[in-house]
Amino acid sequence: MYKIKLMNKISKVGTDLFGQQYQIGEDIENEDGILVRSASLHDYQFPSTLLAIARAGAGVNNIPIDQCSEQGIVVFNTPGANANAVKELVLCALFLSSRQIVEGIDWVKTLKGQEGVGKLVEKGKSQFVGPEIDGKKLGIIGLGAIGVHVANAAIKLGMEVYGYDPYISVDAAWGMSKWVKNAQNMDTIFSECDYITLHAPSTPETKAMINQESIAKMKDGVRIINFARADLVDSQAVLEGIQKGKIKKYITDFATEDIIDQKDVIVMPHLGASTPESEDNCAIMAVKEMQDYLENGNITHS
Ligand code: MLT
Repeated sequence: MYKIKLMNKISKVGTDLFGQQYQIGEDIENEDGILVRSASLHDYQFPSTLLAIARAGAGVNNIPIDQCSEQGIVVFNTPGANANAVKELVLCALFLSSRQIVEGIDWVKTLKGQEGVGKLVEKGKSQFVGPEIDGKKLGIIGLGAIGVHVANAAIKLGMEVYGYDPYISVDAAWGMSKWVKNAQNMDTIFSECDYITLHAPSTPETKAMINQESIAKMKDGVRIINFARADLVDSQAVLEGIQKGKIKKYITDFATEDIIDQKDVIVMPHLGASTPESEDNCAIMAVKEMQDYLENGNITHS
């Protein structure tokens, strides 16, 4: 019988993998494994007895990978288990970045209490015109499970899709080359696409990949979506790009102080995987991986 600790910021992010209320800061001295969603494990000294950590999600940047490697602790993640949920929110972001939906809703609220709201709406709505996404070019940087899900859905919505990943070609990424254009490099995505969505992990190579230099290569009026990790984007460079009219809209799932109230920026509270279906999928995959390792020594998705 193995002992496994479930650690999660349940009270903070409102996510409950198994209905238990563990809090960060608990004793992990006697565990064989740890299951975790978004809580950061960076401040922990793991006991020498700890065998494995399973992360119910894709990104593993809340886990100190170097420390785990040194101690021989196997780290699992659950790639693909939340891809559909993230894809749906990315589709939502494509529309939000185009159609001025949030801006329009906020404006209508300001009309409360004024006389003849119907007429005011008719007069004022022309300020909220936004383009359709059908026929526009979407660049996807990162062709893991989420990138591939987004590509498939965007094609169905009539978009022309370009894919780029330094480690996998469009063809190798689930044979996508029949319908997704293979961008030879990121510059092709920058110069060709009306919409750019990021689905790469946070690594030293991807840090601030969207910066002054890359923004300068983009089309005027580009719309950027970042549901991957906050540090992929130099947010100051994005704000500058918005002021100059280069970037039309920046939509992100990561709230940082400098951008939350900025014009033409829409910030969501990391909702990408926040569906019951995705939470179940991730939890079940994480538990199965952990069990298979502890009981049979099998390693998947490490
Ligand atoms: C992930 O890494 O899987 C996503 O950021 C979603 C999440 O864990 O909330």
